[in-house]
Amino acid sequence: MTYLRCSAADCGAALELHDRSLACPKCGDLLEVVIEPRFYSACDLKNIWRGRRASGDPRDISGVWRFREFLPEYPLDRVVTMAEGNTPRLRARRTAAWSGVRELWFKHLGWNPTGSFKDLGMTAGITEANFVGARAVACASTGNTAASLAAYAARAGLAARVYLPMGQASNNKLAQALDFGAQVVQIEGSFDDALDALLSAGDPDLYFLNSINPFRIEGQKTAMFELLEQFEWRAPDYVVVPGGNLGNSSSFGKAFAELKTQGFIDRVPRLIVVQAAGANPFARLWESHSKQLTPVAAPDTVATAIRIGNPRSWRKALRGVEFTGGMVIDVTDEEIGEAKAIIGRDGIGCEPASAATLAGIKKLAAAGQLDPHAVVAAVLTGHALKDTDYIIRSQTRPSEEVPGAHAR
Ligand code: F0G
Repeated sequence: MTYLRCSAADCGAALELHDRSLACPKCGDLLEVVIEPRFYSACDLKNIWRGRRASGDPRDISGVWRFREFLPEYPLDRVVTMAEGNTPRLRARRTAAWSGVRELWFKHLGWNPTGSFKDLGMTAGITEANFVGARAVACASTGNTAASLAAYAARAGLAARVYLPMGQASNNKLAQALDFGAQVVQIEGSFDDALDALLSAGDPDLYFLNSINPFRIEGQKTAMFELLEQFEWRAPDYVVVPGGNLGNSSSFGKAFAELKTQGFIDRVPRLIVVQAAGANPFARLWESHSKQLTPVAAPDTVATAIRIGNPRSWRKALRGVEFTGGMVIDVTDEEIGEAKAIIGRDGIGCEPASAATLAGIKKLAAAGQLDPHAVVAAVLTGHALKDTDYIIRSQTRPSEEVPGAHAR
């Protein structure tokens, strides 16, 4: 049976799978999908998943629905998919040398249909919205969720409304949301204010698709199924991911727990979450061993995707970090900028928030907190073209540096 359960360990309230509640009616904590996988042995299923790569079924072509034994079940005609997932694992030797580790791999989730990992969650979230008969969907966003929601809603024929912190999402992401036909509402303040505005509007006609929606988390967890398959089910020592609202970190923790429990892997990677120093409530919580998150009132970082002061999924993410023996750290905007430039020079590229992973790896390696012989997988969450203003700004050099040339 697949159903919704309260994510608080001491509550455990259960709800029917397609209940549209966003929080536990008993204690108010976030909900999660509990999957009792419909399958044979782990070994058989690994072969089935591999075999699906040769199939023409749209669900098999998707790097999310290919792993559908671990997802809620839907009739084929309800699944809204654009061949998301299927992103490469790239070995990065020069970047590894720069960061001080020997074996570094990038899992580039920015190479998804709308250029970020959000598509993995959105195919699942919009499919659920479609299944329950929603007509309109909405989210608050620093930009990528908005772009992804707008695209998948358009594919499903649903109206889309996105709440953005005014002047803070990159123009590229805003342009995507407009291009896909979403209604854009700009909110004075931060992402947290935009999310509060949307939640307090309490519009019953809107299906809500931020990452507190448990179906989003189900889709996003498949990034780790795909990554572990690429590692032939031998877990790397570390998986490193940037943390904003902490939905993605939560989904990775859930993936590792499920794959371990069901016998797909015999050990889990240690999950390292990296935040920007100006938007670091989770890193502060970790550092102080606190059991309660203190929000950052005015989050600020050049990595606008993770400019978030009050991450809603912190409890779920903490569970994943603790379960895997991981850690949470923060890095400065300068460190993010340097790391981003290196990833660019390696011919890969990513948006600033994604580069927080590499900055974190370098910081930990320099501090002797990361074994230099470890196998490290860094998750790049967004494409380089997601924030071109940042690149133009940070790569512009005075013209006198290049004789006879104009500034660039
Ligand atoms: N990296 C990128 C490129 C993002 O867009 C986000 C979040 C994150 C990392 C952090 O992921 O929130 O699950 O911890 N972007 C959201 C948005 C908030 O609205 O696009 P998280």
